[in-house]
Amino acid sequence: MTEKNIYIKTWGCQMNEYDSSMITQLLEKKHNFKRIYIPEIADVLILNTCSIREKAQEKVFHQLGRWKKLKKNNPNVIIAVGGCVATQEGEEIRKRANYVDIIFGTQTLHRLPNMIKMVKQNKKHVIDIDFPLIEKFDFIEYQNFPGITAYVTIIEGCNKFCSFCIVPYTRGYEVSRPVDDILLEISMLSKRGVREVNLLGQNVNAYRGKTFDGKICKFSELLKLVALIDGIDRIRFTTSNPIEFTDDIIEAYLDTKKIVSFLHLPVQSGSNRILKLMKRAHSVQEYKKIIEKITKNRPNIQISSDFIVGFPGETQKDFEKTLNFIKEINFDMSFSFIYSSRPGTPAAELPDNLPLEEKKNRLYELQKLINKNAKLWNEKMLGSIQSILVEGPSRKNPMELYGRTENNRIVNFEGQPNMIGQFINVKITKINSNSLKGYYSKKFSNKNL
Ligand code: SAH
Ligand code: F3S
Repeated sequence: MTEKNIYIKTWGCQMNEYDSSMITQLLEKKHNFKRIYIPEIADVLILNTCSIREKAQEKVFHQLGRWKKLKKNNPNVIIAVGGCVATQEGEEIRKRANYVDIIFGTQTLHRLPNMIKMVKQNKKHVIDIDFPLIEKFDFIEYQNFPGITAYVTIIEGCNKFCSFCIVPYTRGYEVSRPVDDILLEISMLSKRGVREVNLLGQNVNAYRGKTFDGKICKFSELLKLVALIDGIDRIRFTTSNPIEFTDDIIEAYLDTKKIVSFLHLPVQSGSNRILKLMKRAHSVQEYKKIIEKITKNRPNIQISSDFIVGFPGETQKDFEKTLNFIKEINFDMSFSFIYSSRPGTPAAELPDNLPLEEKKNRLYELQKLINKNAKLWNEKMLGSIQSILVEGPSRKNPMELYGRTENNRIVNFEGQPNMIGQFINVKITKINSNSLKGYYSKKFSNKNL
């Protein structure tokens, strides 16, 4: 069989990136496809979409419009749309763009090879946006070309139904991957040089995976098992929801040193009134309690968060509560967004009278505060010795290497190629706007490099 070219365009979150790498692996390993990066010479064009915030639908049709021209030049080109917008819109996509051949969902991407075959044979479009229970993971063997760090999905979907969020509708209910599958995948990654894993899911702390003997393994237990894998020396996870950040997870910070001292725990707002409208099911005080407990176990931990500004009905007072909460917790680098109404979610029905200009102002003010905090955290690091995982040549200066600290700062420094893939100690000597400068010396480390 001759080789066919696939071109994949991915939008959105890390889960989508992970899904695109699964698609690549599946098509390349078993179906004689090759991923290329020039759409003009592709046989199959795949759009892996995200609908969490922007005007996702419009963006999809914009992109499809461009690909329509490619199909006009070569009618044999197959166009496939997957991801969250496809799951949500299904048949509707073909109503507006009847040249689309395949519509696949977030949970049916493993059926893509078969769908491509069907389109070729029957010259007819295929739609499959089902939610089969996590079947897609049975098709992964290992990730293509992992680097020094890798993402590993441990749980899909979300049952929380926060009033603003589209995820439960597009990714389905929470389904955990079996423990052994995850451990096997991470062991294989470790054998291929990965030293840091980032466990991925919309709510990793809701993880309840089956063990081989039918028992249930909780997230805290999974963390400990991952920490036992040789070669994996740093563990991160994204994202957690405060309502399931239970004491056993907080306990894990005491004896599982491989878990980084950096926690991303989205709070969204510092106002209880808004949290209630968001259906977040926890209060500001409960969130604070978690941080207090975790800081007891890990005094140097840094916390980052997600914030939404301009949620329907957010008053200046609510907003100020968020600003005060940021100061109180001393949040580090965080993500913040202007509320974006998602069709079909309960919040989309709430009256939203705040002008966009005001929402932009609030976002600006919030980001200014967060940036100030992040800068203060950076300044604290100046002169300190930090353990960094060296990932490769620096992007700005190929004569230098770069690595990441536990708290996710990029550090550029002068080093030797044999340091790539190793943890080394460097002294932080300078703070730049997006990175830090470090100095390596043998005396900071007990390793012979
Ligand atoms: N599971 C995570 C959130 C995943 S979605 C949690 O429990 O918090 C990632 C982030 O996107 C959210 O934390 C939220 O800040 C943002 N987001 C989601 N829907 C949004 C919307 N409709 N408008 C603006 N931001 C949104
Ligand atoms: Fe979305 Fe809330 Fe789940 S933000 S992903 S519904 S925890």
